[in-house]
Amino acid sequence: MSDKAPRYASWTTGKLPLPELQEMKRRGEKIVMVTAYDAPSGRLADAAGVDLILVGDSSGMVMHGRESTVAVTLEEIMFMTQWVTRGARRPIVVADMPFGSYETSNEQAIGNAVRLVKEGGADAVKLERSGTSVARAKAIVDAGIPVMGHIGLTPQTATVLGGFKAQGRTADRANELIRDALELQAAGCFAIVLEAVPEAVASAATKALAVPTIGIGAGAATDGQVLVWHDMLGYSEGHAPRFVKRYAEIGDAIVDALGRYAEDVRSGAFPEAQHTYAMPEAELKTFERR
Ligand code: KIV
Repeated sequence: MSDKAPRYASWTTGKLPLPELQEMKRRGEKIVMVTAYDAPSGRLADAAGVDLILVGDSSGMVMHGRESTVAVTLEEIMFMTQWVTRGARRPIVVADMPFGSYETSNEQAIGNAVRLVKEGGADAVKLERSGTSVARAKAIVDAGIPVMGHIGLTPQTATVLGGFKAQGRTADRANELIRDALELQAAGCFAIVLEAVPEAVASAATKALAVPTIGIGAGAATDGQVLVWHDMLGYSEGHAPRFVKRYAEIGDAIVDALGRYAEDVRSGAFPEAQHTYAMPEAELKTFERR
């Protein structure tokens, strides 16, 4: 057996059943979620035993170099969802509904969610905010597609919130967030992301809800955590939010590897005989004679 076999063991097991997430909450087992944007990262997240993969519109910033997530399109999320679902077997894959793909009407929201599931291969979709998003979430759930809610700092509407900053830091706003979370649960959401909210608010929401909460910058009391792939692996440019923990410095490893490659090419140390194709001796002789 190859030494890689155990790392890819989850390829042979089936999809994590969605109701299992609520059971995990009941048992007090933490849920692990990470973003991924292509087939290799989907495969690696699966190999690492991650429970949920989010094909996030954070891709607009960490993959495509944009200043915000607002310009991300449904087609971009569609492509990335197709790639991720080719790599990931066991984790539940959640496709983010980008800004503009669900605001207009329930029909628009259902139509685009159906596309992400049918063409993209997603298991579920995520949409941001409360307000009109509650009706959209309910409509999509009624159409048979699992929905994850997302409240607190909602990057698609960061301008309205006054920028990328923590939410729910006043008692009124904290109460609003709990009410929003309960409304999204009543609409049928199977889980709710709480982004950049005080731990006390996340803890109260987690206790108030039967469905799991997934925190990002929301402290340790949530039922699970999510981090952005590039942030946690040291693969993103610039300043990472304070809630990010770096588990690797992949960017440094890549620069180092590319630097050594450049040195080898320039010095002639690469390629070596082992990287080169040979010809059968007789063919070579004929070739040289001709
Ligand atoms: O797009 C994304 O990656 C997200 C997470 C930050 C929750 O929405």
